Amino acid sequence: MKKHLVILTGAGVSAESGFATFRDTGGLWEQYDVNDVASIEGWYRNRKLVLEFYNQRRAQLKDAKPNAAHVAMAQLEKDYRVDVITQNVDNLHERAGSTRVLHLHGELTKVRPENGIYDRTESEAEVIDVGYRPVILGDLAPNGSQLRPHIVFFGEAVPNIGKAIDLVEQADILLIVGSSLQVYPAAGLYRYARNDCPIYVIDPKPVPISDPRVTFIQDVATKGMARFVELVEVND
Ligand code: OAD
Repeated sequence: MKKHLVILTGAGVSAESGFATFRDTGGLWEQYDVNDVASIEGWYRNRKLVLEFYNQRRAQLKDAKPNAAHVAMAQLEKDYRVDVITQNVDNLHERAGSTRVLHLHGELTKVRPENGIYDRTESEAEVIDVGYRPVILGDLAPNGSQLRPHIVFFGEAVPNIGKAIDLVEQADILLIVGSSLQVYPAAGLYRYARNDCPIYVIDPKPVPISDPRVTFIQDVATKGMARFVELVEVND
């Protein structure tokens, strides 16, 4: 039976595809106030600004390409049962060929009514795939309410966290790539890994995990993934 490899990714995995991360120098939260464009209060204060912010991100995604790190993760499906849990709202894992991707913070290419069933039921029945198209104030869902990004704003619950915990608990190997681990609950997921589960962390900067199970690969995602593949081949 294939070993179960669970991969948690953050903005760093898409950095080499041309996407700015959030908290690095030059990152998105230097250019925008997170409370304005990525919080639920910000949405109700100024929907137009929030829609524009995500329209820009969506347009940028259209022209972006998965990089060698996304591709390496998809190729590992040949030898492992791979589940990707991503904090990213881009679709670069899917476009690289990963078949099991759980989005913790939503998806850029999807929208839903601001007053709909999702918040109560987590049912995706009213979620609409808009691809890379912009959404403006006045674009209404079939139920008559304004369309909003299908993004988990700060101040909102993280609906997929239970599924993510289940996956991490089942992992034979846990790999974390390109996340500063500043944002909970995603940042605490590794704690659910079994005591005998090796944990690898790929990031060019030190990441705040002190855990005896961790092997750090201090490098960018593309090079770090090549190193990770070498390491697990030796250990398996
Ligand atoms: P951050 O911007 O907080 O962290 C990005 C991490 O990627 C840092 O640790 C960088 O050192 C690392 N990094 C930079 N370049 C890299 C490269 N080429 N290869 C590998 N790693 C690299 O992003 P996240 O941890 O993903 O949420 O942030 C978590 C959440 O905070 C995001 O999902 C977003 C944000 O606010 C929402 O918007 C809801």
